[in-house]
Amino acid sequence: MTSQIRYLMCPPDHYDVDYVINPWMEGNIHKSSRDRAVQQWYQLHHILKEHAIVDLVPPQQGWPDMVFTANAGLVLGETVVLSRFLHKERQGEEPYFKQWFEENGYKVYELPKDLPFEGAGDALLDREGRWLWAGYGFRSELDSHPYLAKWLDIEVLSLRLIDDRFYHLDTCFCPLTDGYLLYYPAAFDSYSNRVIEMRVVPEKRIAIAEADAVNFACNAVNVDRIVIMNKASDPLKERLVNVGFQIIETPLTEFLKAGGAAKCLTLRATEPVREELHANVSVESRILRMEGHLLDAGLINRALDLIVDNGGSFQVLNFNLGEQRQSTSAAEVKVSAPSHEVMEEIISQLIDLGAVDLPQDERDVKLEPVTMSGVAPDDFYVSTIYPTEIRINGEWVTVQNQRMDGAIAISQTPQGLIAQCKILRDLEVGEQVVVDVQGIRTIRKTESREKRNSEEFSFMSAGVSSERRVELVVEQVAWELRKIRDAGGKVVVTAGPVVIHTGGGEHLSRLIREGYVQALLGGNAIAVHDIEQSIMGTSLGVDMKRGVAVRGGHRHHLKIINTIRRYGTIAKAVEAGVIKNGVMYECVKNNVPFCLAGSIRDDGPLPDTQMDLIKAQEKYAELLKGADMILMLSSMLHSIGVGNMTPAGVKMVCVDINPAVVTKLSDRGSIESVGVVTDVGLFLSLLTQQLDKLTSPYTAKMG
Ligand code: ARG
Repeated sequence: MTSQIRYLMCPPDHYDVDYVINPWMEGNIHKSSRDRAVQQWYQLHHILKEHAIVDLVPPQQGWPDMVFTANAGLVLGETVVLSRFLHKERQGEEPYFKQWFEENGYKVYELPKDLPFEGAGDALLDREGRWLWAGYGFRSELDSHPYLAKWLDIEVLSLRLIDDRFYHLDTCFCPLTDGYLLYYPAAFDSYSNRVIEMRVVPEKRIAIAEADAVNFACNAVNVDRIVIMNKASDPLKERLVNVGFQIIETPLTEFLKAGGAAKCLTLRATEPVREELHANVSVESRILRMEGHLLDAGLINRALDLIVDNGGSFQVLNFNLGEQRQSTSAAEVKVSAPSHEVMEEIISQLIDLGAVDLPQDERDVKLEPVTMSGVAPDDFYVSTIYPTEIRINGEWVTVQNQRMDGAIAISQTPQGLIAQCKILRDLEVGEQVVVDVQGIRTIRKTESREKRNSEEFSFMSAGVSSERRVELVVEQVAWELRKIRDAGGKVVVTAGPVVIHTGGGEHLSRLIREGYVQALLGGNAIAVHDIEQSIMGTSLGVDMKRGVAVRGGHRHHLKIINTIRRYGTIAKAVEAGVIKNGVMYECVKNNVPFCLAGSIRDDGPLPDTQMDLIKAQEKYAELLKGADMILMLSSMLHSIGVGNMTPAGVKMVCVDINPAVVTKLSDRGSIESVGVVTDVGLFLSLLTQQLDKLTSPYTAKMG
């Protein structure tokens, strides 16, 4: 049996490191010793010949990497898929390998030009012949995998390589006899690791550490129970021996300098076909169209990066560059993914960037009914903040109540079909919900650059120092507040107790009194401390004028809660003249609605605090309807809650001393949101000063 096994090798007559096409070659140009290389190669050849027949392909001058016959092509039975090298440095090897295969009776398949695939370096048969593992990410293109499946009539499992030291699958992955697998998990993305773990049971997975991986321990030749490799650590040897393998080490250090070792230097030329198995590949591709300021808004880079970061690959089929500054560009991108699941993830993110199916492949959305109230079908599409349309019966329908993290539900009404974002708990039996990612598009604004600059927060453009940035934000927010108030618009404020502790209470009170705020959202604490300050002059027991803790001050807020409870509500306490100023006072006096959402840590709570969180969320959503701007003042919890309910297009200003909070909130991928890292009391004080300037007769005239 063993005597039937054949390998192909190529003598190292012209071997050298002549160029750099992988990280191992860096710094090694002409650094390998010819004599040592020859001696190491013959040693490997000698060992292999004891276990199999070794054929030789004649080496060619000028093609130093031809020794690495693993990259000649991929053999299964009488068929070979010839390599298409990515780098021109190796493309010249192709005809020599082709000739050898043809002369030896193989049926040779060749991939389309521009579709790289590097043979058995990137495609390894399960040693039981059950399927083919195929790598992509550096040398071979994911789109080559469906060809392998078709031509070799075998199931292909795509694995994405992510560490450039392990640029070929065979540098970090070695299927062994009896279903064992020797591999270096860190070289693969998490999706691929999951694929591996699903196919190979834990007892058969031999994961190696980096120290062995960089010695090319996975680049091993396996003939039955024999494993030939450059070098293995003692623990690795022990593990392999324990499961019945015999290890033969043979130094191949001269070839490591070119990024190869035992396996790379050989190609198994006999691979039996299992007739009962057939083609199967989960690679999917779709062509999408993107339009807009693809270059100057950075959309195209983001789109291509996200495809790759999520484990897919792409091909830009067409790119029409907008030539004028104000004209838009359009691109057609072919996206490939190793599975439908990955494809869905990629497409849903591309939809957020405004990508749509090409018109000729446009399809209606997929719908599935709600069968249990408050529960969506498993594969439901998760909504985003961007204005969305879905295609039903060939027509694009605008989704209402846009918000993120909801499902899109369709209901039939007397006025026709309605599509709207709904949170899961509101789904009703019988409603249809959008599943998968087909027939969905989001509308991205594509106004001209000029309009963008004048209408959005223009300081968003880079290069602004943080102090100057605070000033600029304040100026612009003041302008916006004025504009919105004059137009009868709506500003919603979310505020945390820090507003009161930092002395911002009087400024926020003033904004409310002067009609700049149309709704206030917060928790129990902002109201408690505001009223505490109003009645007792302290905030959390600290005297706000002198900045020192007063004796017994830590009980102040409980006394306040108790007082308000006696009156029944904040409004009643205001009417009774108990509360004479402050944020809550101004809300009551100026009929500005507020919602205080409770939490587990609330003392009291105040009678106004809504401890039923579902009701509180509903009230928040109601007060947020139609908002033009949201000022988020030092409250991570309430601001994140608000952010989730708010569609793109609403200006959001988030002020917090903690940069992490600001980043989390303002990083919505929409240009309307802006973060300011500063003390909120200071921010509010600057803001009221700025509003004063705007109202002074001098500036008013200028405006
Ligand atoms: N210098 C060669 C290259 O970068 C090494 C190839 C190693 N072969 C392999 N099957 N891993 O292409």
